[in-house]
Amino acid sequence: YPAYDAIREHAGIFQALDGRWFVTTHALTSRLLRDSSLRVADAADYDRTWADWRENRGVASVVLSMLQTNPPDHTRVRRAAAATFTARRVAALRDVIAAQVEELIEALPARTEFMNAFAYPLPIGVICALLGIPEADRPWFRQRAADLTVVLEPISTEEEMHRADLAGRDLEDYFIGLIADRQRAPREDLTSALVATAGDTGLTGAELLANLVLLLVAGFETTTNLLGTGLRILLDHPEQADRLRADADLAPAFVEEMLRYDSPVQLTSRFTAGPVDLGDDGQIPGGEMLTLLLGSANRDPARYPDPHRFDPDRPSIQPVSFGGGAHYCLGAPLARLEAQVAFPLLLTMLPGLSLAGPAERRDRLVLRGYATLPVSTG
Ligand code: HEM
Repeated sequence: YPAYDAIREHAGIFQALDGRWFVTTHALTSRLLRDSSLRVADAADYDRTWADWRENRGVASVVLSMLQTNPPDHTRVRRAAAATFTARRVAALRDVIAAQVEELIEALPARTEFMNAFAYPLPIGVICALLGIPEADRPWFRQRAADLTVVLEPISTEEEMHRADLAGRDLEDYFIGLIADRQRAPREDLTSALVATAGDTGLTGAELLANLVLLLVAGFETTTNLLGTGLRILLDHPEQADRLRADADLAPAFVEEMLRYDSPVQLTSRFTAGPVDLGDDGQIPGGEMLTLLLGSANRDPARYPDPHRFDPDRPSIQPVSFGGGAHYCLGAPLARLEAQVAFPLLLTMLPGLSLAGPAERRDRLVLRGYATLPVSTG
């Protein structure tokens, strides 16, 4: 965060020596996220720069998903997914989430590593429940989803890319089976809803597959990081943790401030199609790549007074942690609900919860969180 402060003081937007543009302020980040003239890198862009990207099935599943698709396809696919992944479907998961949280808390030993014992299993359990994946398959999914997440990062090793490819293949095979099953015998899950409406919404088989994999990948480690980071923030601010323990209704404000204070997704990218006029901030020519520093925007003192203070009482927090505009996170209501249910239960069921050793950050650029968070449960 000091590095973000330094570059933000330098400029709200600037071009680095390698030609890439970086956006540091809340105002410009929000404005550019909502600018419909900007594009995400899509399959056609990958074709130009990386001839055999389709061979890596991990990369392919994400590139072919809505996350890396532009209008008109994005509008169509997003509409199809949003019509089934509704607020009602998410709200109906509250009891499922609470039951999973309680079960995980009850199984925690006196000393444990929170990421492995809680922050990983909860989101994967909830996404699997949403998609209708049986409980017995969840550990298998957890490993594949974790292997696949590296494709969201700009830099990864050859070994990581290889594992992402294998995970992509396994998951595609699994989902092909699941889709066929739900075509034969629909259930109450999101997979069945997507399959049932695919004809009406114009979702092709390949799009259905890629976006099922995306729901798993986009919603897993991001939420895991929110849970780990949020817990660490509560342990570092015991007076605030006491307030939340006493009043679970504060959870929505706490979770918004956690998202702002330490954003699980630190940056995203866009490309300019033509010149973009930013008024006093100048002009960006067409064909340029922009890196929008969500983590910096969330700590911009022009939008958030005393930005390095964790303060859930801020008025209208509205962080850019879920992005904005056409690609605004489809799973934001679900991620929020998981965290809003989890933290009050963790604090009330484990009043003596404390840090039990040094926590280690994950070595990642985009997805920010902890690799390990040792805790004592009291
Ligand atoms: C998109 C963050 C959880 C599904 C995004 C984007 C961000 C984000 C920043 C936009 C990327 C961009 O504009 O380039 C997060 C964070 C989460 C979270 C911080 C947890 C704390 C979830 C969950 C799901 C999900 C739980 C689903 C189960 C998606 C999907 C998109 C997306 C499908 C693509 C939307 C589109 O391209 O139209 N997320 N996400 N996310 N997220 Fe999330």
